[in-house]
Amino acid sequence: MLHEPIMVEQKVISEILANDLELLKIEKECWTLLNTGCNKGKDPFHTFALATATEDGVDLRTVVLRKVDTEKRLIFFHSDVRAPKINQLKNTKEVSILFYDPARRIQLRIKAKPNFHIEGPEFETLWEETRLSARKYYLSEKPPGHRLSNSFDTLPPHLKGFDPKKEESENGKRNFISVSFEINQIDWLFLCSQGHKRALFKYQEGGIEANWINP
Ligand SMILES: Cc1cc2nc3c(=O)[nH]c(=O)nc-3n(C[C@H](O)[C@H](O)[C@H](O)COP(=O)(O)O)c2cc1C
Repeated sequence: MLHEPIMVEQKVISEILANDLELLKIEKECWTLLNTGCNKGKDPFHTFALATATEDGVDLRTVVLRKVDTEKRLIFFHSDVRAPKINQLKNTKEVSILFYDPARRIQLRIKAKPNFHIEGPEFETLWEETRLSARKYYLSEKPPGHRLSNSFDTLPPHLKGFDPKKEESENGKRNFISVSFEINQIDWLFLCSQGHKRALFKYQEGGIEANWINP
């Protein structure tokens, strides 16, 4: 009589522990995937789709994952300060970010708060790390989205097919912006023939609320 309820209780506790451990493992794995994507140019998580709200509805584009700060739960991309998306981001409290890896069959749907970096030590480091081949695009006189009379009128003629010298590239710094996203929520989806799995991680002060969700 004494044994049975204890056995049941132990089983329930171990199931709860196993369940929590699996959720914990998946949450860690999300950050591993983000770090790998950031460091490997050919990884599917090297780019992500970034959605913003506009006056008329929504807008969406691909950007490159440039930096991940796991501790602070931040991911970064770089852009031209004059790009329409920057204004949209400034007017969006929470953006939607999407990663998908078809080989791993994992989707991450992220909600995050944008922060803007146009000066300071972190900004300087990110600019220093930006290669000449990427700096070149910040030297365009016209802002992104500007109407052109032909397709090649994008860069100064001497930069067509060539990278700028370091000194000239520094002029692009005024147009460079790094945007970090503080992640509030990750919706993890794993497509599996035995049954898809989905988990929702909400970052709150003092911890993570983790739950399984019906896919
Ligand atoms: C693979 C890929 C990577 C891109 N990476 C960036 C990026 O890191 N930053 C950026 O501003 N635009 C990037 N773009 C261009 C944007 O998708 C977009 O076309 C452009 O920035 C204009 O966006 P906007 O009008 O919303 O500002 C990338 C496009 C592709 C196809």
